[in-house]
Amino acid sequence: MTLPEPATGRSDIVETEVGSVFVSNYPPYSAWSPSHLPALKKVLASAGDQNADLGLYVHIPFCRKRCKFCYFKVYTGKNSNEIKTYMAGLLKEVDTYASKPVFKDRPLRFVYFGGGTPSYLSVAQLRDLVSGLRKRFDWEQLEEFSFECEPGTLTKPKVYALKDLGVTRLSLGVENFDDEILSNNGRAHVTTEIDRVLPWIKDADFPMFNLDLIAGMVGETSEKWSKTIDRTIEVAPDSVTIYQMELPFNTVYSSAIRDGDDHEHFANWSTKRRWNQEAMERLEEAGYVRSSAYTMVKMEKKGRPFVYRDALWRGADMMGTGVASFSHVGGIHYQNLSSWGEYLETIDRGELPLQRALETSNEDRFIRQFILQMKLGELHVAHFVDKFGMNPVKKFEHELSQLRERDFLTFDDERIQLTMKGLMQVDTLLPNFYDAPYKGARYT
Ligand SMILES: C[S@@+](CC[C@H](N)C(=O)[O-])C[C@H]1O[C@@H](n2cnc3c(N)ncnc32)[C@H](O)[C@@H]1O
Repeated sequence: MTLPEPATGRSDIVETEVGSVFVSNYPPYSAWSPSHLPALKKVLASAGDQNADLGLYVHIPFCRKRCKFCYFKVYTGKNSNEIKTYMAGLLKEVDTYASKPVFKDRPLRFVYFGGGTPSYLSVAQLRDLVSGLRKRFDWEQLEEFSFECEPGTLTKPKVYALKDLGVTRLSLGVENFDDEILSNNGRAHVTTEIDRVLPWIKDADFPMFNLDLIAGMVGETSEKWSKTIDRTIEVAPDSVTIYQMELPFNTVYSSAIRDGDDHEHFANWSTKRRWNQEAMERLEEAGYVRSSAYTMVKMEKKGRPFVYRDALWRGADMMGTGVASFSHVGGIHYQNLSSWGEYLETIDRGELPLQRALETSNEDRFIRQFILQMKLGELHVAHFVDKFGMNPVKKFEHELSQLRERDFLTFDDERIQLTMKGLMQVDTLLPNFYDAPYKGARYT
């Protein structure tokens, strides 16, 4: 018997087509529904597991411009009053969380400001927001405060204010070091803006400085990509995250393709994987080691974990605040309302802005953590046996053997390890491990 095709089918489709996915959770979002909200409300009112790790995600949905490849919930035309209303809404949402028995009095282990563009906010707005959050939850045991930035929105005072506010991991969305590529793909920033902010970031000396790149932006060539890698190595961030260009349904590019207006050339998957691999290998030569399928970290920072990622991929509780944010508590996944008006009106009534949820089984959680940890490139069997009483090598023996035959991974009784070939297309391999009802299901 051979393995069924992965749900995305992407490992065999060479062209980049609309509908590809970056697997960020399990079971697929399409299975989440309002019918599970009563179960969530029960958990929110219970004492829950007070010792489980807890994090806070804050969604800042504002951007200067919408990138043509962006699939996140973002707004580009909000005025300062609307931003003020949103910030007040965020704090009110966190207030409501602070009154829920399941979260009340629990210390935060990690805070993540994502977007959109958190660095779009002014220094004054950031100071108000962070001090408001600190008043509502205990930050004393915080291990990490991550913050996403777009180069053109940073000023010197803002960079130092971020350091002062306690940001420990600053992530810069560089994406590429070629101006023509940046502008053709709808990025708001230009390379002179990257060059301007780098000395401030270096000088502020954040414990972790991450730089994001995308392999396969429209207009990319092998020569230009090689220059982007040269420049990245010169900049020498603590870590480099490389995504391969995805075309989920809700991007500007995807709509143009669906409308038959697809004049752009998208690199195919094998080219993107080759570029991605080249970057990883060059970074390795420059003294970086692997931290996940997407991230390389400088050898000397290897011991410094990426708390947000590792805690989430191991099943931590997280309050996701802001429009359309995702959360998890006590085995229940849920998502906030994704319309601006409904989100704010619900908070105004003193309620959590809940849209849909999914109550997971022990097996769902086992599969979720298994597939997310596959993205780390290495899994330890004992961790799963201790935590879930299930052995992944036994449960997935057939799937793992088939993937081993195709050189995607190796395994024995103790661990599973992805090969470079497996790492470069890990998202296409994961649906093989989905439970039957979710195989072939729409992802979002
Ligand atoms: C939520 S975005 C925020 C970026 C931030 N607003 C900025 O402008 O730098 C985080 C990262 O996701 C990646 N990303 C966004 N859309 C993508 C796509 N379609 N394919 C691959 N990576 C993508 C980019 O590398 C980006 O830096």
